[in-house]
Amino acid sequence: MSQKIPVCIVGGGMITQVQILPSLYQLQRLGRVGDIHICALNSAPLRDLANDPMLKKAFPGQSFMAHPSLETDPKVGVPDLFKDVIARLPKHSIVVVAVPDQLHHGVIEVALRHEHHICCVKPLVLKHAQAEAIGEEACSKGLIVGVEYHKRFDDRSLIARRQYRAGRFGEFMLGQANLHECWYYRHSNFQNWCTCENSDVFTYIACHYIDLVQFITGLKPTAVSVYGIADQYPNGKKGYLWADGRVIWENGAVMNVQNSLSYPDEGPGGNFQGMRMYGRGADRGTMIVHNDQFRGVEHVYLEKSDSPGDTTYAQPNPDYFQFLDIGGEGLTPVGYGYRSIEYIIRNIAECMEQTAGLGEAQSLAHRQKTIRRLDDEGIMATPRNSAYNELVMEAGRLSILNGGREVEIQYGANAGVKLK
Ligand SMILES: NC(=O)c1ccc[n+]([C@@H]2O[C@H](COP(=O)([O-])OP(=O)(O)OC[C@H]3O[C@@H](n4cnc5c(N)ncnc54)[C@H](O)[C@@H]3O)[C@@H](O)[C@H]2O)c1
Repeated sequence: MSQKIPVCIVGGGMITQVQILPSLYQLQRLGRVGDIHICALNSAPLRDLANDPMLKKAFPGQSFMAHPSLETDPKVGVPDLFKDVIARLPKHSIVVVAVPDQLHHGVIEVALRHEHHICCVKPLVLKHAQAEAIGEEACSKGLIVGVEYHKRFDDRSLIARRQYRAGRFGEFMLGQANLHECWYYRHSNFQNWCTCENSDVFTYIACHYIDLVQFITGLKPTAVSVYGIADQYPNGKKGYLWADGRVIWENGAVMNVQNSLSYPDEGPGGNFQGMRMYGRGADRGTMIVHNDQFRGVEHVYLEKSDSPGDTTYAQPNPDYFQFLDIGGEGLTPVGYGYRSIEYIIRNIAECMEQTAGLGEAQSLAHRQKTIRRLDDEGIMATPRNSAYNELVMEAGRLSILNGGREVEIQYGANAGVKLK
């Protein structure tokens, strides 16, 4: 095995294919991480990853260790295999959690038990008490847990955050955010797990912009109401595929968030997304508008590819995740999707480099100091500094299951949610 820190991705689906694996391949190329393992429920998604033409072109000669192996019958599921793989990793490896939302907690528990650092796709977990327990256990063992909210690493978010905190936007009062994923998502593996009993489009998508409002302003959400419409997937299962959410903030401000799996497949761009925030000073208004869908690039292709949602007229996002030919071998991933993964992995790797050769007590103290710094800086979302997201998720679920009734969020020793 390589001397570099090994990484194990649990989950070989869409987000692993388009963002996590190419980011980790790039970090492997740069010598930041060592071996890459990927666990999936069966070999089918792993074969897709291994044969992905873009990944082959971008990272010639690089590969991952598949669990189960690529030769395994793709119809045979191995839901517990990730536990053995995680148990076999050397202590203080990195586990990347990229399974469906409701399975994050089970994977995180195993990773912490075996003393590994964690990079988890959003949302960390679906219960606030679980987020708190994860934060506590991780800190007591000196393990870094980063939650991957990549919109934070879009430069426009960091610009707004710095300027808001410098007082340039006064006080946030009223806002609106949209994030509509394409209709074709209904045909993907989503229909097997993003169903009414497990999750909904508010839980799955709204957290991005709600997290951004907190990231920019520092305000905490205090009440949530979500009206959801249950719609049928192609496989007959039902999911809340349309949602209108209202989040009230501690200063009385309100953010309306609309989400769905309904953006027309023939529409340009991979989704529709953006945010408006209106604020006030003593005698004038302020505004932050992020047009996150149309970012000024228009393409018309000769033919559209076979990928679902591809169009001949397109508005590609140059900022999230792109592969560039900038010389050297293969292609180089760029964008906030890459920067977000890189930030979490780099902070873990640097911390481990700084503790190399120290005794256990000294190493633990240093790792805990790093965790406190990351918690306080608030750039990387951690279980402690972003647990409001879990409260919003809990409140959102309670509200959507109760026809949109308002749910209050309580902080402090008795943190939790209750119907108003
Ligand atoms: N913008 C974002 O931040 C963003 C975008 C997409 C997805 N996500 C998150 O990523 C996660 C995964 O989403 P996705 O779209 O890749 O889902 P997906 O359905 O495409 O893939 C899920 C993967 O999990 C694997 N899996 C399921 N159970 C498993 C088990 N017991 N052991 C090992 N692997 C198992 C499946 O084999 C599959 O490869 C979700 O939590 C989602 O919310 C985040």
